[in-house]
Amino acid sequence: MDYLVVGSGLFGSVFAHEARKRGKTVKIIEKRDHRGGNVYCDNIENINVHKYGAHIFHTNDKIIWDYVNQFVEFNRFTNSPIALSKNKLYNLPFNMNTFNQLWGVVKPEEAKKIIEQQSAAFRESEPENLEEQAISLVGKDIFECLIKEYTEKQWGRECKDLPAFIIKRLPVRYTFDNNYFKDKFQGIPVGGYNRLIDALLEGIDVELNVDYFSNKEYYDSRADKVLYTGPIDRFFNYCFGKLDYRSLRFENEIIDTDNFQGNAVVNYIDKEFDFTRIIEHKHFEFGEQEKTVITREYPKEYEEGDEYYYPVNDNKNNRLFSKYKNIPIDPGKYIFGGRLAEYKYYDMHQVIASALKLVSDEFS
Ligand code: FDA
Repeated sequence: MDYLVVGSGLFGSVFAHEARKRGKTVKIIEKRDHRGGNVYCDNIENINVHKYGAHIFHTNDKIIWDYVNQFVEFNRFTNSPIALSKNKLYNLPFNMNTFNQLWGVVKPEEAKKIIEQQSAAFRESEPENLEEQAISLVGKDIFECLIKEYTEKQWGRECKDLPAFIIKRLPVRYTFDNNYFKDKFQGIPVGGYNRLIDALLEGIDVELNVDYFSNKEYYDSRADKVLYTGPIDRFFNYCFGKLDYRSLRFENEIIDTDNFQGNAVVNYIDKEFDFTRIIEHKHFEFGEQEKTVITREYPKEYEEGDEYYYPVNDNKNNRLFSKYKNIPIDPGKYIFGGRLAEYKYYDMHQVIASALKLVSDEFS
């Protein structure tokens, strides 16, 4: 066989698809009991439930947009999250709707003036912590109403004890525009992400419930080349120690109502709620099912056995990653790619672009 691909996430699936298209023989092995990696959806009450967290496809790159659209049609979903704070709803990202809800202002000039007044004193010196940084960017009211408690839940620490660099920018818009993303293209695959993965993997042999490391020598012997999309530290048997990740816990609930919160994403700012947001999955696809499925999302420290969600790209972990990356391997035998092997947060469009770059390097 030409290629053994370890992992059926977007990276592995795009590569396998393109390799097969070029007449190569490919097989995928996947540790989980389903294909698609983190974009996989469970079907509950006929609703596509984003099992590993809400996934909204967005890109500015027409090539990537055309690429995914050849496999599945995308709907017109636009991410416009809502925030619930002290029993009041606010539009996100911070825009004229939010400012009107906060202060009753109707003109951009009025909003600018308030933010300017509230942040001025904090812009005179270097911010010493996240709280000062956030206030210097958006003023005290927005910080207290919409940032403080949410951020403290996410990090498990007070904003005063968090470093300023965590928040580099807080986009503020002086237009009535609730579209979270600025990208030209955005949507959800009609019928869900599994349809995208099914189309990519058509005709490709995928063996589920197989851990590459259960018999690495055997799997290596079966192909000329191995594309590995799992965690890089695992590949090298954690010889320098483990890379850190942040995790999440999801709690699903089926509710006997056709519409629980009227929006796909509602952020819960207040500390009295342990979770940071509720996702109501049917709204990603304008679903009209009789029931609904919601997911409460709880931030949590990574513990052994948890899923890897966000890499912690601080200095310590980046240095550790560099050590792994510099271990010499035979490039004629092993290729690494994807979010786990590159220890990098990738959005879906970025991981597809990265897989297509590998395709062009490999087959040029
Ligand atoms: P992915 O993790 O999907 O696939 C790797 C696969 O390898 C997994 O299936 C794993 O089981 C398998 N594997 C690992 N080790 C193995 C072994 N030893 N043997 C066999 N198989 C093995 N992006 C975006 O554009 N919009 C969004 O809204 C979001 N939302 C979002 C929410 C959350 C909570 C997270 C964490 C991430 C997002 N993303 C996102 C990012 C998106 O999830 C990401 O870009 C892709 O899933 C990455 O695909 P990969 O193929 O790199 O990894």
